[in-house]
Amino acid sequence: MTTSGPVVGEPASGGPGLAQERRIVTEIPGPASRELLERRQRSVARGLSHVLPVFVTAAGGGVVLDVDGNSLIDFGSGIAVTSVGNSAELVVDRVTEQVARFTHTCFMVVPYEGYLAVCEELARVTPGDHDKRSALFNSGAEAVENAVKIARHATGRNAVVVFDHAYHGRTNLTMAMTAKNMPYKQGFGPFAGEVYRVPMAYPFRWPGGPAACRADALDVITGLIHAQVGEQNVAAVVIEPIQGEGGFVVPPDGFLPGLAAFCREHGITLIADEIQTGFCRTGDWFACDHEGVVPDLITTAKGIAGGLPLAAAPSAGTPLPAPPRSALSRPWARRTCPPRRAASATSCCPGWASWPRTILS
Ligand SMILES: Cc1ncc(COP(=O)(O)O)c(C=O)c1O
Repeated sequence: MTTSGPVVGEPASGGPGLAQERRIVTEIPGPASRELLERRQRSVARGLSHVLPVFVTAAGGGVVLDVDGNSLIDFGSGIAVTSVGNSAELVVDRVTEQVARFTHTCFMVVPYEGYLAVCEELARVTPGDHDKRSALFNSGAEAVENAVKIARHATGRNAVVVFDHAYHGRTNLTMAMTAKNMPYKQGFGPFAGEVYRVPMAYPFRWPGGPAACRADALDVITGLIHAQVGEQNVAAVVIEPIQGEGGFVVPPDGFLPGLAAFCREHGITLIADEIQTGFCRTGDWFACDHEGVVPDLITTAKGIAGGLPLAAAPSAGTPLPAPPRSALSRPWARRTCPPRRAASATSCCPGWASWPRTILS
């Protein structure tokens, strides 16, 4: 059995010390990558695609090195994951330190301090200065699933309202919540029920033009919820404050606060899916911050952990991702994001005012 691939001039390690340059020394893919692609054909399920046909051997800052010695500028960043740069020193140090101490206990069997530190940090950096609680999971889809469970349990209602162009993940419920059929849903039904889709406030494509978009969209959305679902049946409205996979759709100013006000009026939980937009991806800590919106629940993943944990990790929270998460907020705080400011809006759901909020990651 082959266990290691052909690697030309493999560097000792990655990290920000790698030359931050584009350097092409072979055709793309080069011979070593082609050999690995053949192995891939024989061993990896055909359903998994890739964008760039090269194999990475090291990465650091904003470049990836392939096995043929090409240095490529990393515009992919693992899809909005390596926001502090690949193999950032603080992350590598904390992960190394953690795995040397222990790799796993399961927080629900024996807890550990790193989990608390992450939750405390989340309480500090997420919108709103109210009392908050967090639960940590292994993937974004799992966070969305749990946010919906919490909203349903808290409200005693079933319906979940989502938007055109939305992307929320690939589990059964999150496939139902995701808008696009290909490539995410085709052939994978039946999907979870009680998911209702409404138009997104999309200024560029709004029939009446961008100027009409905010007011029209709020009218259409609230009208559809009233007529087709019934406000009293809605547990949660789930929205990406800026849509990612659906095409980087930025709603018009005032739309999110308007939606939050509607949710507040009807006791509906507003869940902001900030899995892609969170952790300074849009210039503030969270996309909700741009308009001072404080959702009842936030889902976050991706940039929070710089690539950890693996989505395949089977239990709820592991000690491995916890330390880098807390370590990660330090470089962000230093480099890219404004200080956490006091919220200008209140929480959406009045019934929840006395509840400890839950932030999921
Ligand atoms: C907005 C949003 N929600 C949910 C997810 C699902 O996250 P994961 O792939 O970690 O399950 C993604 C992933 O791209 C996302 O962008």
